[in-house]
Amino acid sequence: MHFSVTLDPVQQLKTGTLVLGIGEDLTLSPSGQQLDQASDGALARVLATGDIQGKTGQTLLVNGLPGIAAQRILLVGLGKEPELADRHLRRVMGSVLAQLKPLNSAQATLLLDSLQVKDRSSASTAALACETLASGLYSFDRFKSEKAEPAKLDHIQLLTDPANEQAVHQACNEALAIAAGMQVTRDLGNLPPNICHPRYLAERAREMATGNPALSVEVLEEKQLEELGAGALLAVARGSDQPPRMIILNYQGGNTDQQPNVLVGKGITFDTGGISLKPGAGMDEMKYDMCGAATVLGVMTAALQLKLPINLIGVLTCAENMPSGGASRPGDIVTSMSGQTVEILNTDAEGRLVLCDALTYVKRFNPKSVVNIATLTGACIVALGDKTSGLMGNNDELIGQLLSASREAGDAAWQLPLFDDYQEQLDSPFADIANIGGPKAGTITAGCFLSRFTKDYPWAHLDIAGTAWISGGKEKGATGRPVPLLTRFLLDQASAH
Ligand code: BES
Ligand code: MN
Ligand code: ZN
Repeated sequence: MHFSVTLDPVQQLKTGTLVLGIGEDLTLSPSGQQLDQASDGALARVLATGDIQGKTGQTLLVNGLPGIAAQRILLVGLGKEPELADRHLRRVMGSVLAQLKPLNSAQATLLLDSLQVKDRSSASTAALACETLASGLYSFDRFKSEKAEPAKLDHIQLLTDPANEQAVHQACNEALAIAAGMQVTRDLGNLPPNICHPRYLAERAREMATGNPALSVEVLEEKQLEELGAGALLAVARGSDQPPRMIILNYQGGNTDQQPNVLVGKGITFDTGGISLKPGAGMDEMKYDMCGAATVLGVMTAALQLKLPINLIGVLTCAENMPSGGASRPGDIVTSMSGQTVEILNTDAEGRLVLCDALTYVKRFNPKSVVNIATLTGACIVALGDKTSGLMGNNDELIGQLLSASREAGDAAWQLPLFDDYQEQLDSPFADIANIGGPKAGTITAGCFLSRFTKDYPWAHLDIAGTAWISGGKEKGATGRPVPLLTRFLLDQASAH
């Protein structure tokens, strides 16, 4: 998919489809009025039929209007508000794409003035629209004998005005990079766990660095992890025949003296629960337990494509959580890289174990910020469902930056409290800390566990258990979230220098 920006008169655009947004009051935007005039009132007559009422996501395809160079107009409903409500834009673009996909037409043009979202700049609306369209064509059929026919649509044009031209252009570039990053994350998430294991992820990280002088990759294997004292990560990995890997990507886009932003992703390539075995139903979805790691590779992809002028470290902390004679038992005590001892009361709380050693490891980078991303707790799905990622941390400024990036990116996240009062749930009679709390506030106590290892830098934790993939059904698959949120965060970091 590629994007271009045009300022030409709307009636002269030789495009396959003009996409014109219309609210329930059926008033036409300036470009809509121009089309109506050029067609001698034909557009108003279409509206007068009552075939479209402007309801959110409703569409009507109108072919061959006189006086208009485009082949057809796609009217799309924006809902009750005279201006499109923010949270509806993705849904609206979804129905636009559903209409455009089957058409025998390579190009469509968005009339931006008719798709304007409340409280959002024209460029920002364009970015969201582009990202939705670019990532909406995603399909994963690598393991199907019969491949899906690719859609004809491959060029989106945006009609805007001279004042917004530059910004819209820039926004589309960013959206394309985000879409490319999401694709990497989704592909990795969707891969089966017999293929996508820790060594595979290391190989993919290495691939990213080849031919990219700004990016270097280091992969730590068991021996090095032992020397580093990564006892928590190693304890998880010992139940599996797949060896663990800690994968470190170092992107130098800024000055050497600039502190790096660090992303740490949970990379459990399959989570059976270990000896605290999970129930069988739906266990296949635990192949998605590496979506935090896949997010780091996705964001790195976007950062490289945008040549962000920042330093960025990505760490993927990877293992497979299996039951075997080598697996850790409930009651085992291990020593983490930080020196803190951990009593493993539940081997299914393995994410925090692989993360804590990575979070200790990254201290050496003197980070400006550390954000970890993890499919960490089922409790997060209970609390926030599958629309919103959980956000916790030890630094209000960082949390504020992430929430603002989340809003801007249309990639929802919500803060949960890490009040001290929750910490006592992690008390162990035998070790410094237990790896689970009680049944209450499971997402928060997981965050509390991580907070014991992140005292030396501004830190935030994104629990993406609900948002990283769509569970079951026809739409089952990785979502590519929170690549939009984190890429926006890094774009903001880059523009702050
Ligand atoms: N990977 C899971 C969390 C998860 C479960 C994400 C379902 C998405 C859907 C994690 O490793 C886990 O098993 N967490 C346990 C923690 C508990 C033992 C304290 C959980 O949520 O049940
Ligand atoms: Mn688990
Ligand atoms: Zn897990």
